[in-house]
Amino acid sequence: MMSENHKSEQVKIGIVTVSDRASRGEYEDRSGPAVQAYLESIISSNWQPITKIVPDEAEILTQTLVDLADEVGCCLIITTGGTGPTSRDITPDITTHVCNKLLPGFGEVMRRISFDKVPTAILSRQIAGIREQTLLVNLPGSPKAIQECLEAVFPAIPHCISLIGGPTLTISHQREVPVVLHR
Ligand code: MTE
Repeated sequence: MMSENHKSEQVKIGIVTVSDRASRGEYEDRSGPAVQAYLESIISSNWQPITKIVPDEAEILTQTLVDLADEVGCCLIITTGGTGPTSRDITPDITTHVCNKLLPGFGEVMRRISFDKVPTAILSRQIAGIREQTLLVNLPGSPKAIQECLEAVFPAIPHCISLIGGPTLTISHQREVPVVLHR
């Protein structure tokens, strides 16, 4: 049963870089490692990253997200890239397709925070949602965006995972999380 998998096994977090060029090795993926570094700095309980680099292809991305959620049993999947307006940008659409429920607040807050820093943040269609006991969160591809966005929404993530029956993620008390939600 999925709920037993989620509770009895090591806590797993999927980190999916969605990029045609990074998946072809045309440039080094800096976004996936930036997500992992942020998570390492903020989560003090045990967890294991499961990292993937995939092209902006609907079938491959769908399969990757479904596999990480249903087979690997990730409690959280963070994607980076493919949230913009071009024809190749399909990450939010595929995320919507694989989720049972959307959480529009994540995208709203991330765009609001980001818009104060770069006006082009309005171009990101990033969303979040739930597939059974897995929380999926989209981030833009820019490494700078990753820290900005995660700092804004991460405080809500462990609570959300617990509400959907996932494992307990403990946040590091060593690290100061800026309170960017109040302005
Ligand atoms: N959000 C933050 N915080 N910082 C950024 O630099 N870049 C924007 C936007 N969101 C950006 C951001 C830009 S330029 C684009 S085109 C969109 O995210 C989509 O990026 P993506 O297609 O790499 O996901």
